Amino acid sequence: MAYKLIDLTRDGGVAIIQLDRPKALNALNTEMMSEVADALTTLEADDGIGCVILTGSEKAFAAGADIKEMSDNNYLSIYKNDPFEENHCSIERFRKPIIAAVAGYALGGGCEIAMMCDFIIAADNAKFGQPEINLGVMPGIGGTQRLMRAVGKAKAMDMCLTGRMMPAEEAERAGLVSRIVKLDDLMSTAKEAASKIANQSQPVAMITKETVNAGFNMTLDQGIRFERRLFQSLFTTQDQKEGMAAFIEKRKPHFKNK
Ligand code: CAA
Repeated sequence: MAYKLIDLTRDGGVAIIQLDRPKALNALNTEMMSEVADALTTLEADDGIGCVILTGSEKAFAAGADIKEMSDNNYLSIYKNDPFEENHCSIERFRKPIIAAVAGYALGGGCEIAMMCDFIIAADNAKFGQPEINLGVMPGIGGTQRLMRAVGKAKAMDMCLTGRMMPAEEAERAGLVSRIVKLDDLMSTAKEAASKIANQSQPVAMITKETVNAGFNMTLDQGIRFERRLFQSLFTTQDQKEGMAAFIEKRKPHFKNK
């Protein structure tokens, strides 16, 4: 598939998906998000790719779902078509690690797809928000749920009810983003993190991601038991033998993803 509204590039084991609809501040329309979904399907099947970065422009990661595309819906049309499920939610279904590198606006659906990624690295100009209430609606791609789990009830309520934007420093303090860097350093930092991940054992990175995410839907006891069984299962892999042997022999491991 040739892409019009995203750029897909590869650098070793890292793939970068850049949202590229600058005139609309990367508003997430169906065409762009179906390209994202298609790219993720390709990257999931590509054994050479161990980590993906999702990014936008310096001004906008994404300013939300496309309001103009959405505005004429009625309840039945938006219920039946469920425009976010197939494409936007492909990010939450993606099984390999995926990092959001966020500069500028990450609003509404933009904040929501950033939160679907495994972690967010933010530039110092990033602004996060769930301003849907200003449009007479509310977040609809997981914003009320993921924001609450990331920053707690008080800040999630504040953001969703007032529609205010949260600057990068506050987002880091609140736990929404893992680190803030200067705008100029955003992509180099994200690439460095992604390439570290891509150089690990791919199945181990995928199982680690699955285990952290599974914890959101489990009690602590269930989560700990789930983690312990998967930890034990990793002793069936060649990569466990290699990783531990390399440590003992004081050399770098060479993982085979087996
Ligand atoms: N949908 C469609 N178009 C959008 C858009 C969006 N979410 N955000 C920006 N644009 C368009 C603008 O309409 C404008 O297009 P025109 O030049 O054709 O008029 C262009 O992008 C540039 O935008 P502005 O002129 O508004 O730029 P600005 O720098 O003055 O303001 C902004 C930037 C504060 C981000 C402002 O654009 C804005 O408030 N955008 C909307 C943010 C928003 O409400 N997001 C939530 C969307 S709803 C949602 O996401 C629902 C959900 O959870 C599922």
